[in-house]
Amino acid sequence: MMRTRTTIPRSVIADVEQRVRRLCEDLAAKLQFHGWHHVSFVRDKAVHFAGRNGAAADVVEVAALVHDLNYMVRRNSLPTDGEALRRKVLFVSGVCIGDIEWVERIVVEAEMRTRHRDISLEAQALSDADTLFKALPVTPVVLAHKIVGEQVGKADDGYYFYDAGAAATYTKWAEANLSLWRCIVESLDDPCVEDLLTHVAV
Ligand SMILES: [Fe+2]
Repeated sequence: MMRTRTTIPRSVIADVEQRVRRLCEDLAAKLQFHGWHHVSFVRDKAVHFAGRNGAAADVVEVAALVHDLNYMVRRNSLPTDGEALRRKVLFVSGVCIGDIEWVERIVVEAEMRTRHRDISLEAQALSDADTLFKALPVTPVVLAHKIVGEQVGKADDGYYFYDAGAAATYTKWAEANLSLWRCIVESLDDPCVEDLLTHVAV
């Protein structure tokens, strides 16, 4: 006989969301591309994909919310590095032990470096949402704004490199690079360029 499971209550999911969001906001400067904007995008799309492939949407939603918590533990880390924090967040939010284990399996299965063709439907929904974020054609635009916003001021004020030798040797590279990104940002503000890109994209 098939056992029916109780779905994770909305109030519990909201609690997970609130905790992850707070962690993201506290660590915003360190998270780069894995901040709340990424997590909420992946959550929304993962739920959408779960609705299409028949995966358990509640578990997928929770897995999406915690899938990048490892980046709060350490930069450039693997999902396994976030296991303890994930379990803690899920536990204090009131997710039952069985679902915590399930979420853990989904997050590990969906990891891009190790995922394979036959991962579970839940991991597929999470994977597609995470991959979609990486594939968004707007990523270079976001990157251009980030590079210009963060780096140009330092270059203009003369402390892009601290080491005198590095400054003497590499400043021309940095200037050329920043000048290119600055041109990209400028061009994106031009309505004709925007129009052109819209048509190229089609
Ligand atoms: Fe992610």
